[in-house]
Amino acid sequence: MRIINFGSLNIDRVYKVSHFVRPGETISSEGYECFPGGKGLNQSIAIARAGAKVVHAGTVGTEGGFLKELLEQSGVGTRYIRKSGNVTGHALIQVSKEGENCIILFKGSNFENDRKFIHEVLENFDKEDILVLQNEINNLEYLLQLGKERGMHILLNASPVDETLKHMDLSGVTWLMVNETEGAEITGERKPEKIIAQLLALYPAMNVILTLGTDGSIFQNKEKKICQPCFPAQTVDTTAAGDTFTGYFIASVLAGKNMEEALETASCAASIAVAREGAAMSIPVFEEVEKKLTDYHGNHS
Ligand code: RIB
Repeated sequence: MRIINFGSLNIDRVYKVSHFVRPGETISSEGYECFPGGKGLNQSIAIARAGAKVVHAGTVGTEGGFLKELLEQSGVGTRYIRKSGNVTGHALIQVSKEGENCIILFKGSNFENDRKFIHEVLENFDKEDILVLQNEINNLEYLLQLGKERGMHILLNASPVDETLKHMDLSGVTWLMVNETEGAEITGERKPEKIIAQLLALYPAMNVILTLGTDGSIFQNKEKKICQPCFPAQTVDTTAAGDTFTGYFIASVLAGKNMEEALETASCAASIAVAREGAAMSIPVFEEVEKKLTDYHGNHS
């Protein structure tokens, strides 16, 4: 089994603010930094730092060469990353004193993945392999369709949810990763149990992983339900916490961990990421996660 992540690569422009800017208001930020990011890139880095082999596919623009270099340095395969002559996708991120964020995306080169390119990449993968996807690139529906046709195991992080995603056929998705807000937007339900019930009614073969911020996460399929509490953390910046969770989850599944262990490892990794600034840069390496897990179990045995 190999992992191919067809996903976004962004330049994150991060502004520290006392509060999120309101309609009609102008505020000065208390700090500015530029980081590598993008849900796709963050997830690939998390998978690699968790110790699994992953290849990333996607498109960067003229000033995005450093994103590819970072992936390479992190041990991610980059032979399917193309360079276009346009602007690289980027994100304008406000981070509040509480570590919460709000994000404006500019699609840029993330929306230059044409069907021919997608086909050329996916023809190298088949039913033994895992396709990781998010909703920050174009042709997501085509990727879902082609991945399903090739019998691949698909992990979809349904973020960000938009109108098109709400109407996509998710029947080929093996693992659906959503947070409470995204789950509510897709199903029209608000309570976690109802969101999951609705998704499983539509897609009975799916494994749903619903993340609930400080309330932890829930895994559920037609056979079992697991509730994973959140690990304690000093939150500085929640950006990429979900991506860290996603990457560590799928790497743990690939490593043969059972669902309880995979969720616990993912949750622990995310708790380390939220205590650091930035997106990709905040993702821990496996040894850090292992140490926090060992310490946690030592204190709770
Ligand atoms: O999930 C975090 C990511 O979302 C950021 O790195 C930003 O690029 C946006 O895509």
